[in-house]
Amino acid sequence: MARPHIEFVQCQNVEWQAQPDGTEVKRLNIDPVDGEETLLVRYPAGFSRADTGELDRAEEYFLLDGGLTIGGNAVGFHGYGFIPRGTPAGDRTSERGATLLVFRHGRSDRNSGSDVAEAISIDTPAMPWDVSTYDPKLTHLRLARKILRLGPNDSCRTFLLTGMPHGVPDVDGLPAETHDHCEEMFMISGEMWAPEGLMRPGSYFYRPPGIRHGPHVSPSGFFQIMRSPGVNAIVTKWEETMSPLPIGAAYSPVMPEGTPESWRREWTGAAAY
Ligand SMILES: [Fe+2]
Repeated sequence: MARPHIEFVQCQNVEWQAQPDGTEVKRLNIDPVDGEETLLVRYPAGFSRADTGELDRAEEYFLLDGGLTIGGNAVGFHGYGFIPRGTPAGDRTSERGATLLVFRHGRSDRNSGSDVAEAISIDTPAMPWDVSTYDPKLTHLRLARKILRLGPNDSCRTFLLTGMPHGVPDVDGLPAETHDHCEEMFMISGEMWAPEGLMRPGSYFYRPPGIRHGPHVSPSGFFQIMRSPGVNAIVTKWEETMSPLPIGAAYSPVMPEGTPESWRREWTGAAAY
């Protein structure tokens, strides 16, 4: 079973679910058969858990706030890691608490086991931004990226993507796009307009192959973590006709069947001033 299309949910509208180990989770998207999933995990202050043994699914993580120690390795602000399936989860402790974004790979995924995939641990703030050539159809977003992981056998790229404020071109329209692979995104900060509405911090989408999307523009700039399950290099098919810029689009999310109605609430965020 493939993962369902969701585009997009504000994670503030998803309830925390208490777990037996004392953590809480917000499960944002899942393949219930193979266990591939994306979730937020909140570790309370003073958390301590012994190693639970070999992982049945590879785990990618990105630390959103707080601090966490995994197998003796301190993970700080925006720390990223990959733990292959079949290697220990590692004991976990958190003095002041932590919020972790977790991408679990499927149990049967042959590209994320310890026989083919290497463990990764990156202090991402210390990485340089790559501002080299991007897709010319996206120059209006003034993009920069940091590539965190390239999966074996062209299986998935994970990267940070940011765009400068005032990413709105002086044109009437821009082309929509499609890919033959999946795309997944979590908005860390900033905002981006899409035809589905304004993606604010904490917004999330999982987009299966062949879904038409965009155009996207960003008056205030944005910073997100993205994945491309299925490929390491994103390939985009651009439409020849132009679509209107989505500024002001009403929130109109695509949600899987059975999604709680509360996930569809518009999230306008706290006042900044
Ligand atoms: Fe795309």
